[in-house]
Amino acid sequence: PPIMPMAIRFDHEQLTLAPAGPTLTRRMSDLEGLFRDEAARAAAAAGENPVVYTVTSSPVPEANRELPQSITTIMPGTTSGEFWMTKGHQHPDHQGEIYLAITGRGGILMFDGEQTSWLEMLPGTIGYIPPGWAHRSVNTGTEPYAFLAVYPGGAGHDYDWVVEHGMGKRAFRGPDGSALLRPFAE
Ligand code: 6PG
Ligand code: NI
Repeated sequence: PPIMPMAIRFDHEQLTLAPAGPTLTRRMSDLEGLFRDEAARAAAAAGENPVVYTVTSSPVPEANRELPQSITTIMPGTTSGEFWMTKGHQHPDHQGEIYLAITGRGGILMFDGEQTSWLEMLPGTIGYIPPGWAHRSVNTGTEPYAFLAVYPGGAGHDYDWVVEHGMGKRAFRGPDGSALLRPFAE
């Protein structure tokens, strides 16, 4: 059946959607090989295995011509100084995407295979991800960082691209607590 027009209520306190679609939970054990210090990540996964982020989707399906949305909430934390973050992915057909920061503070690390871009995300910031830029979100604060994503339903998620190409840079907590970008492999 076709999707009918709908209003989706966003709860600013709970960071939930109603009606909601599926919710995805990524724990430390789901992030193998992504942090600079893989041994520290593996130890955390073998221990308390904390939730690093959740993604709650609206009921709009990930299908061509639809415009699904989701709320990503990244917990505050670091692994050997590297801020907690999403896996990061490329959209296979290089489709663009829009993020709107809701609460907390964070950043979008983007990489097109040559250049790196870093956008600071504070509540109210709209971050634009152009076609062909792999993107990873980072919580640079001390509270949960949540944002709304709106993307073409056929965009897909290519996680292997990031494993193969990296993200150009990594975001660490600097001496004053703010984000310090360092070369990916340093
Ligand atoms: C998307 C968005 C966004 C993203 C989440 C989790 O294309 O759907 O970029 O919803 O998927 O923030 O990040 P990862 O997909 O990289 O784990
Ligand atoms: Ni995306």
